[in-house]
Amino acid sequence: MMKDRLLEILKPYGQEHLLAFWDRLGPDQQRSLARQIEAVDFLQLARWFEGRNRQADVRRLAERAAAPPGFRLDAAKNPFTAEQARRRAVEELCAGRLAAVVVAGGQGTRLGFEHPKGMFPIGPISKKTLFQIHIEKIIAAARRYGAAIPLYVMTSPATHDETIAFFDAHGRFGLPSDQLVVFCQGTMPVLDAETGRVLLDAPDRLAVSPDGHGGMLAAFERSGALADVRRRGIRHLFYFQVDNPLVDICGQEFVGYHLLAGSEFSTQVIAKRDPLERVGNVVEVDGRSMVIEYSDLPDDCARRRNPDGSLAIWAGSIAVHVMDVELVARRAEGVEGLPFHIARKKATYVDAAGRRVEPTSPNAIKFERFIFDLMPEANNAVVVEVDPSRAFAPLKNASGASEDTPEAVRRQMAALARDWLRQVGAEVGDRTVVEISPLFALDAEQLAARVPRGTRIAEPSYFG
Ligand code: UTP
Repeated sequence: MMKDRLLEILKPYGQEHLLAFWDRLGPDQQRSLARQIEAVDFLQLARWFEGRNRQADVRRLAERAAAPPGFRLDAAKNPFTAEQARRRAVEELCAGRLAAVVVAGGQGTRLGFEHPKGMFPIGPISKKTLFQIHIEKIIAAARRYGAAIPLYVMTSPATHDETIAFFDAHGRFGLPSDQLVVFCQGTMPVLDAETGRVLLDAPDRLAVSPDGHGGMLAAFERSGALADVRRRGIRHLFYFQVDNPLVDICGQEFVGYHLLAGSEFSTQVIAKRDPLERVGNVVEVDGRSMVIEYSDLPDDCARRRNPDGSLAIWAGSIAVHVMDVELVARRAEGVEGLPFHIARKKATYVDAAGRRVEPTSPNAIKFERFIFDLMPEANNAVVVEVDPSRAFAPLKNASGASEDTPEAVRRQMAALARDWLRQVGAEVGDRTVVEISPLFALDAEQLAARVPRGTRIAEPSYFG
């Protein structure tokens, strides 16, 4: 009998509760639940659960951590100039060797928006969605270089269908259909944090969550996207997260530094103002660059200073990377994939009595992969420092939170637009809300050709 067979799988791991509602399920539901159970590696889950409190020996690494090689905003010691970088990037972009990858599979729990985060209307005036803004940047860049920049969008089962329907309903915002590839990441079972039991999302459904932004690697290969970029002759992937509308997609300096350094994985960083800032710390240990999560970095290591008073561990990752297709292929085709990290988060579940429970504090363990775990394997990895006010405005929280809210993101978008307008000689009031469509100008250089010097802007204005 199917039930007995499943019990045999579950019993050794104390997971029999997954069949608590079995006798009440219809035949289709039973078959579906059986398929889900058979797909789980319970031995592996049990091992990870056992090791959940075993912190990797981060202290030893952190004590030896040095500043990573790379390019600072203060360019005095940089091995190449910004001008050299721009020239090199333009060559590669004109040759059509870059694609963009946006990860948009997260559940966006903190934002509390009931659609995929990419559908959030963020334009300060236009109310354009994050997806539209990103796509318009790609269309404008492809025009600028006379070469296509295909976009690969990673979704998860939670966001996949709605994302595809959204792109279809809006004609992909003008991106030709052969330039947009949507691929879906994998999921992992969610465990009860106390007992290690897999949670049920419904009597016939295991609770699962997307396997982290690092799930991109396996999903990229599995979905055929990797083969697709190779077929197109793409050599570098510009990777970003869906929730940052300021990201300069395929920006020339960043791409150019990556190329000039011969790097296989480059990442944008900001100079931390506070040693305990909640960003991943990019460091170099024994000649390899890596990221130490803020939650893993011991406070005394974080506070270490150089003789000149600057922070020793200074570089905070903003999750914008360029990675070489060769590196991705090397790792994606390996057996193991990237390691899993344990995150304690809230997860709704069905309890033994069949009631749906909405926890108010973290009750669950989720397994996530992080894309930056690729970094230590990359040759010549570098960091490139950016100015956060120009490059980073993550939409994380709902209105009312202290930071990273829709209002804060819109303010930053408008501030950057004012900054560009002033650079080209326009006069803009300090509080005047302005928005520049990527199709109008991708940067101040393009804006200069379209906005006459001395233009006065006193009213909210949209340049589109
Ligand atoms: P976050 O870790 O900030 O998660 O993701 P989130 O889903 O946006 O928000 P919370 O934590 O639930 O509130 C950073 C980026 O990584 C993507 C997200 O879509 C976002 O672009 N991501 C995250 C994935 O694509 N898959 C994942 O499994 C996790």
